[in-house]
Amino acid sequence: MSERMAELTAERRVAPSILSADFSRLGSQVGEVMEAGARVIHVDVMDGHFVPPITIGPLVAASIADQVHAAGGAIDVHLMIEAPERQIEVFAKAGADSITFHAEATPHASRTLSAIRELGCLAGVAINPGTPVEAVAELRGLADIVLCMTVNPGWGGQAFIAGSPDKVSRLAALAGDARIEVDGGIDAATAGSAAAAGASLFVAGSALFGAADPVAAYAEIAAAAGAV
Ligand code: DX5
Ligand code: ZN
Repeated sequence: MSERMAELTAERRVAPSILSADFSRLGSQVGEVMEAGARVIHVDVMDGHFVPPITIGPLVAASIADQVHAAGGAIDVHLMIEAPERQIEVFAKAGADSITFHAEATPHASRTLSAIRELGCLAGVAINPGTPVEAVAELRGLADIVLCMTVNPGWGGQAFIAGSPDKVSRLAALAGDARIEVDGGIDAATAGSAAAAGASLFVAGSALFGAADPVAAYAEIAAAAGAV
């Protein structure tokens, strides 16, 4: 629910992305990063249209939702899909605490943000690297989260786009009270510059689940981001 996510994201947080987890043992991978201190678990949904890959859907979100909620955490759903307004209800029912969709994926961003809030979730809008920050200017007050893609969406393990901190600071000026989330190429070397620019939620996939020691990696990224 939105209250849980709002409370957790009042402080800076690193959000592990399960896209880079080992799905044959997803529960224990989630347990491991939560043991390390993570409370916001990021779920990347791709449809093979908005982005080329097909990843996971509501069944997988629901499969970890009880575990995450029981440990005091929240499920942060990132929809990289066309016509996201058709899918928000099923993700809310699957246990999402926040749902973020792409501004490029729908002409109905305003209505979709309101609908997400009505379903009891924090509402987020994401923009791709090639989308100007002004795309979210009219959504101030409607979005609880503005997600700045710091790689082109679709795959984990890509390099952080160097101009991203500058974009984050321009976005922060337009976003009002919304939290700024950054997603793509976040690690101990890049999180600090994104934090200084105004980001407060830091998605990390391969830097966490691809690390030999995810617990140590979590601590390093959180320290670099100034996160709890
Ligand atoms: C990419 C996804 C990301 C992805 C990030 O399109 O939205 O959440 O998991 O992966 P890393 O942290 O490896 O860049
Ligand atoms: Zn994501």
